[in-house]
Amino acid sequence: MITWWLVVVVTIATLVAASTIWPPVADKWNDADIAALRSLWIGSLGELPPDPTNAVADDSRAAKLGQALFFSTSLSPSNAIACATCHRPELRFTDGMQKGRGVGQSKRNTRSIVGVAYSPWQYWDGRRDSQWAQALSPVEDPAEHGGSRQHTVHAVASDERFRKQYEDLFGFLPDLDDPRNVDRVFSNIGKAIAAYERLIMPGPSRFDRYVEAVLSGDEKKTL
Ligand code: HEC
Repeated sequence: MITWWLVVVVTIATLVAASTIWPPVADKWNDADIAALRSLWIGSLGELPPDPTNAVADDSRAAKLGQALFFSTSLSPSNAIACATCHRPELRFTDGMQKGRGVGQSKRNTRSIVGVAYSPWQYWDGRRDSQWAQALSPVEDPAEHGGSRQHTVHAVASDERFRKQYEDLFGFLPDLDDPRNVDRVFSNIGKAIAAYERLIMPGPSRFDRYVEAVLSGDEKKTL
């Protein structure tokens, strides 16, 4: 027969045990927490550093050409795939799918490119270390644009609008029968796309607004 005092003892013991497993939630961040929150806050991001590998990185004409190329399907021989097929602006430059799909099936999930110019490494495995070199991989990837550098440079040379924008920036298009010229033009195309990507910046999220309130001593307002 369980007596009333046994019930009381068991209840108290249970509460004591629970409070050690789930300690009461602190209603204030300590200094180390605040330092961590501040480091993750968008206000700590700072200015985008210059890209010394790309002479047109901050040229608005390059960004304009890069934007047009990012949304153009003409870099793909199938004329069906653009960068924006997988990096869709309305989905924060992802595709909302488990794995990317171009002319073939990608092996990996499509990363967002918001704020990507801040990153010293590109891709899940960091296999590219420059923004413009990364921008050229998809066009030659058999699962993405499924094209080639020859196709890409000719797509720019044969489009009156692209050609003019290109020549205003980099000078007259050279003879594209010379493979060295193809490499040079191809690199410049990557540099224009990279200039556009440098403008795709993150804005403050709910987390950032919360940290801002914490830093100004107003956190109760946001809870
Ligand atoms: C078929 C879909 C697809 C197309 C088309 C595509 N991408 Fe991607 N993109 C991906 C996938 C998938 C990844 C991640 C792959 C990996 O990490 O191996 C990625 C990664 C990236 C990254 C790296 C982001 C980071 O944070 O590391 C950048 C930048 C990028 N793409 C830009 C572009 C540009 C520029 C183009 C057009 C020239 C393009 N992509 C075309 C699917 C695509």
